[in-house]
Amino acid sequence: MTTLWTCLLLIALGFIGVPVANADCECGYSLNSTVFTELVESDFTLSGNITENTDWVVQEWEVSKEASKGPYGRNAQAKNVVSNPSVQHNVSAQGVNGDPAGLELFVRRPDDNQDYIGVAEVDSRRTDMIYGTFRAGIKTTGVNGTCGAFFWYLNDTQEIDMEFLSSQITANSSPINLVLHSLLTEERGGDAKNTPTFKVVSLPFAADEGFHEYRFDWQPDKVSFYVDGIWLADMTNSQYIPQSPGKIILSHWSNGNPLWSGGPPEVDAKMTVSYVQGYFNSSLPSRHEDYQKRCKGRQGSLSICPIPDQKGAPKVGAVHFFSQQAGGDKTPNQTVYDKHLLKSLGSGLTAGRDSWVLVCSVLLASVMSLAL
Ligand SMILES: *[C@@H]1O[C@H](CO)[C@@H](O)[C@H](O)[C@H]1NC(C)=O
Ligand SMILES: *[C@@H]1O[C@H](CO)[C@@H](O)[C@H](O)[C@H]1NC(C)=O
Ligand SMILES: *[C@@H]1O[C@H](CO)[C@@H](O)[C@H](O)[C@H]1NC(C)=O
Ligand SMILES: *[C@@H]1O[C@H](CO)[C@@H](O)[C@H](O)[C@H]1NC(C)=O
Ligand SMILES: *[C@@H]1O[C@H](CO)[C@@H](O)[C@H](O)[C@H]1NC(C)=O
Ligand SMILES: *[C@@H]1O[C@H](CO)[C@@H](O)[C@H](O)[C@H]1NC(C)=O
Ligand SMILES: *[C@@H]1O[C@H](CO)[C@@H](O)[C@H](O)[C@H]1NC(C)=O
Repeated sequence: MTTLWTCLLLIALGFIGVPVANADCECGYSLNSTVFTELVESDFTLSGNITENTDWVVQEWEVSKEASKGPYGRNAQAKNVVSNPSVQHNVSAQGVNGDPAGLELFVRRPDDNQDYIGVAEVDSRRTDMIYGTFRAGIKTTGVNGTCGAFFWYLNDTQEIDMEFLSSQITANSSPINLVLHSLLTEERGGDAKNTPTFKVVSLPFAADEGFHEYRFDWQPDKVSFYVDGIWLADMTNSQYIPQSPGKIILSHWSNGNPLWSGGPPEVDAKMTVSYVQGYFNSSLPSRHEDYQKRCKGRQGSLSICPIPDQKGAPKVGAVHFFSQQAGGDKTPNQTVYDKHLLKSLGSGLTAGRDSWVLVCSVLLASVMSLAL
């Protein structure tokens, strides 16, 4: 009986929702009127170690200078990817190593006799992403001679890119390169520069001085690019828009080729990523079944969560994450590493609430079945 009163009290105080209404977003995440069923959210300003983050795979590979099409080969190494979580997540944008918090991707200055440049790449573990809205908080490098990229990738003819060339960044101009790679890129020997799906847009700030949100919305007939929630460009040439599933990649590299990355950099160059968010559809039948199961019987519109726009430059602790919302699980049946991280950080309140939700659900269900 005491338990029943505790449950009613907790519900009355709003500490837990009425169990049936507790979960949310079972029917997906919406942007405009488009629904996406899947979610990946990673807040790299939270404490954590990227090599243990199940949503991401730190790359280790080597590409020779011949294959790399530049005077240098590329060597992706785990040591070039450094986790630098914030000192106090919701208060300080400073990371534990003293620099701005986030995931640091380094391009290393090669030694005089080196044929390879040390680079950094982190790929999403999921490779089933088809259509969606993808966002990343990034502070690019000001060191001349690297390419920093946030992109969706299947292969060299199915790719959506947002790329920074640090050689182009000057005191009064910060261009970003927006590219869809298609069969046309292949026809032109790997160069997309003169294709209709290549655009250079000048940003109204110095991209190496602070974090900004870079975003692309990929639909079957259109890719729209944004910065800090402001629209930059659309690409609507439908024959060039990817129509297959792939993954999301963060990369920072150089091969010394003056026609693109430039470099090599004269000192170690660092790009920092504070977060990545992807709301997308899956190509996997098993995920379609999971979606049908969790959404079934829900009141559609109440169980669809609108994805808010990031407005302005993102600040540590002030970016919206469904996986960080209090008051119910907004990422039901999704695999989100941050959710587990928040729990393991010992958020006593959340853990306590979760066990009360369970106890109260069981109790109220039995009380109701008695009443009927
Ligand atoms: C994503 O999947 C949902 C649910 O199946 C569907 O309603 C929506 O149209 C899909 N979105 C795109 C862009 O295909
Ligand atoms: C991160 O985790 C890996 C694998 O568990 C471990 O080898 C590495 O030392 C950890 N790094 C830090 C900075 O804790
Ligand atoms: C930051 O989080 C801590 C612990 O949850 C809380 O005590 C503090 O009030 C928060 N500070 C701000 C500025 O939100
Ligand atoms: C890329 O993938 C698409 C779709 O599977 C395929 O048609 C195309 O041939 C592939 N291109 C390359 C360069 O592998
Ligand atoms: C970067 O270096 C290249 C080659 O030396 C030079 O052409 C370019 O102007 C430099 N860019 C900046 C922003 O200094
Ligand atoms: C949402 O609407 C904006 C503004 O019309 C458009 O640029 C964008 O492509 C749309 N995105 C999706 C996923 O529908
Ligand atoms: C979703 O739920 C189903 C059972 O309904 C389970 O088999 C599956 O592993 C879950 N998927 C995730 C990503 O949690």
